[in-house]
Amino acid sequence: MSTPTPNHSSAQKTKTPPRRRMMGRGHGMAGGPVEKPRDFKGTLRKLVTYLNPFKVTIIIVFVLAIGSTVFSIVGPKILGNATTELFNGILAKLAGTGDVPFDTIARILLTALGLYAFSAALSYLQGWLMTDVAMQVTYQLRKDVMEKINRMPFRYFDGTSHGEVLSLLTNDVDTVSQTLNQSLTQMLTSLVTVLGVLVMMLTISWQMTIVALLIVPVSLLVVMMIIKQSQKFFSQQQDYLGHVNGHVEEAFGGHVIVKAFNGEDKSIAQFETYNNTLYGAAWKAQFFSSIMMPTMRLIGNLGYVAVVVLGGWLAIRDMITVGDIQAFIQYVRSFTQPITQLANISNVLQGTVAAAERVFVFLESEEEPPETEHPLQLESITGHVEFRDVHFGYLPDKPVIRGFSAEVAPGQKVAIVGPTGAGKTTMVKLLMRFYDVDEGAILIDGHDLREFSRADLRKLFGMVLQDTWLFNGTVLENIRYGRPEASEEEVIAAAETAHADHFIRTLPGGYHFVLNEEVTNISQGQKQLLTIARAILADPPMLILDEATSSVDTHTEILIQEAMDRLMAGRTSFIIAHRLSTIQNADLILVMREGNIVEQGTHAELLASGGFYAELYNSQFEVVEAELV
Ligand SMILES: Nc1ncnc2c1ncn2[C@@H]1O[C@H](COP(=O)(O)OP(=O)(O)OP(=O)(O)O)[C@@H](O)[C@H]1O
Ligand SMILES: [Mg+2]
Repeated sequence: MSTPTPNHSSAQKTKTPPRRRMMGRGHGMAGGPVEKPRDFKGTLRKLVTYLNPFKVTIIIVFVLAIGSTVFSIVGPKILGNATTELFNGILAKLAGTGDVPFDTIARILLTALGLYAFSAALSYLQGWLMTDVAMQVTYQLRKDVMEKINRMPFRYFDGTSHGEVLSLLTNDVDTVSQTLNQSLTQMLTSLVTVLGVLVMMLTISWQMTIVALLIVPVSLLVVMMIIKQSQKFFSQQQDYLGHVNGHVEEAFGGHVIVKAFNGEDKSIAQFETYNNTLYGAAWKAQFFSSIMMPTMRLIGNLGYVAVVVLGGWLAIRDMITVGDIQAFIQYVRSFTQPITQLANISNVLQGTVAAAERVFVFLESEEEPPETEHPLQLESITGHVEFRDVHFGYLPDKPVIRGFSAEVAPGQKVAIVGPTGAGKTTMVKLLMRFYDVDEGAILIDGHDLREFSRADLRKLFGMVLQDTWLFNGTVLENIRYGRPEASEEEVIAAAETAHADHFIRTLPGGYHFVLNEEVTNISQGQKQLLTIARAILADPPMLILDEATSSVDTHTEILIQEAMDRLMAGRTSFIIAHRLSTIQNADLILVMREGNIVEQGTHAELLASGGFYAELYNSQFEVVEAELV
C-alpha cells in the first residue's frame, strides 16, 4: 500500500474475512463453528466494565425477566384448576348431584388472564430496558473502535487488511450487541423456566416428574450429536462461502482484466468447483440443523406418551386431578426448549467473548506516539526544510531510507527524482509525519516535526498523491474537501488553475456531477486534475506533488506546471516526477537511489557533472527522440 489515505479509488477493495461473516447469527441451536477466546475471563471482565454504568438497569432487567417468567409458569397450574372444576362439575351434573360452577371457572380464568397479561407487561418492559442498554453499549464500542482507527499508526495498516478492521466494526460489535440484546436475558429466562417448571411439576406429582426428566438426558445427547455433526459442515460451508465471495469479488473487481485475457471460462470453472462444494456442505449443514426440531419433538412426544400413561393410571387411582395432568403436559412441553437453549449457552458465550476479545485487542493495541504536550504555535512559516541524516524502514530490519540529508531554502521548488522504489514517496510520507523517522530528524524552520501537533503540521502542506483519492459525491464536494468553507467561486477558480474547469463543464451537471462509488466515471487524468484543484483550493504554505500529473497529457502537464509555479511562487514545494522534462526549472533537484541522495543541484549542474541524473535524463531524451522519428 502506498497511499496513506483510508480509502482510495484504485481497484483495491476491502474484503471482509468470510469466516466471521455469520458469527453474529451463530446463536442458533446448530449454528456455525464456535471460535474460542484466548483469555475468556479477562475479556469477560472488560465487557463487564463496559456494562458497569448500566448496573442498576441490568439488575432491574433481571428482576423483570425472572418475574415475567415466574408469572407465566404459574399459568398452566391455574388453568388446570379450571379444567378440574369443569370436569368435576360435568361429572356431578351427570350424576345429578350438582352443576358446573361457572362463576368459579370464570374467576379462575380471569386470574390466569391477569397473570399472563402481567407477565407480558413485565417482559415488554424488560425488553425495552435491555435493548436500550445493548444499543448504548454497542454505540460506545463502535465509537471507541472508530476513534481508535484514527489514532492508529500507518504502520498498523501495513500489516492488517482493511477488511479485518471493518469486520471489527460490523460483525464483532454486532455479535456482542446481539448477545446483550437477546441471549443474555434468554439464558436467564431459560434457567428460571427450567427451575420453575421443575418445581411446578414436583408439586403436581413426583412420579410423573421422574418420568418426564428421563427425557432430558436423551434429548441432550441427541442435540449434542446433531450439533457436532452439523458444525463440521457449517464450518465447511463458511469456508466455501468465503471462497465464493472472494472469487466473485475478484472477478468483478478485475472485470476488465478477466475479459481482456479471456479468463471467463477459467473463472467460471473455478466458481463451479467452489459452488459445488458449497452446495454439498450447505446442504448437509442445513439438513442437520433442520432435523433438530423434529427429532426433539419426537423425543418430547415419546415423553408425553409415557407421562400421559402414568398420569392416567394415577388418575384412576384418584391420586391426581384431570386438570393437573393437563397442566403437567403443558409443563413438559415448555421444558425442552429452554433446555436446548441452556445446552447452547457455552457456545453463545464463547462466540461473544471471542468477538469482544478481538475488539478489545484492537482497542488496546499500540497507538501513534502521543502528541507533544506543548505543540509549537508558529505565526507563519517561511518554508525552510532540513533533512538531517534521516534513516527509516517500514519493517525494523529492512531500511528504506539510509542517511538522507538535504537542505531546502524557503520558497524553493524542489524536485525529487530517482528510479522506481528509490524511496521518493517514502520521503513525502515522512515529511507529512505519516511515519516517524527511525533516526535523524526533519526540521521545518529549525523545528523538529515532532514539536508540532500532527494536525498543524499537515495543515502546512497541500498534497497530491500518486494514488488519487476521491469519494462518492459531487465534483464540488470533492474539490472542497480540504477547505469546506470555500465558496463555489473559489472552487471554480481553483479548478481553472488546475485546468480542470473545462472538462468539468462538459460533465452532465458540471460541478454537481456525482462521482460514483468506485470513481470509474471519469478518466485517470481527470481524477488527477481534481486532486490538484483540491490542493490549490486548500492554499497551503507548502505543496507536495507526487506524480501528480503522471496521467495527464504532456501539453496539459506543462500548463499545470506553469500555473503551479505561479501559484507556488515564494512557497516551498516538493515535486516528484518521472518525466524529467517537467522539472527542469526546479531550484534544487535531489536525485535518489536506494534510499539515499546520490546527487543534488540544478538541472544544468547535474547534467554538466555527467552522473546518474545525466544518465536518467539522456535515456528519457533518447526515448523521446526515438518516438519523434
Ligand atoms: N507500506 C510499506 N510497507 C513496506 N514497504 C514499503 C511500503 N511502502 C513502500 N515500501 C517499500 O519502500 C521502498 C520505497 O518505496 P517508495 O514508495 O518510497 O518508492 P518510490 O521512490 O516512490 O517509487 P515510485 O517511483 O515507483 O513511486 C520500496 O522498496 C517499497 O517496496
Ligand atoms: Mg512513489
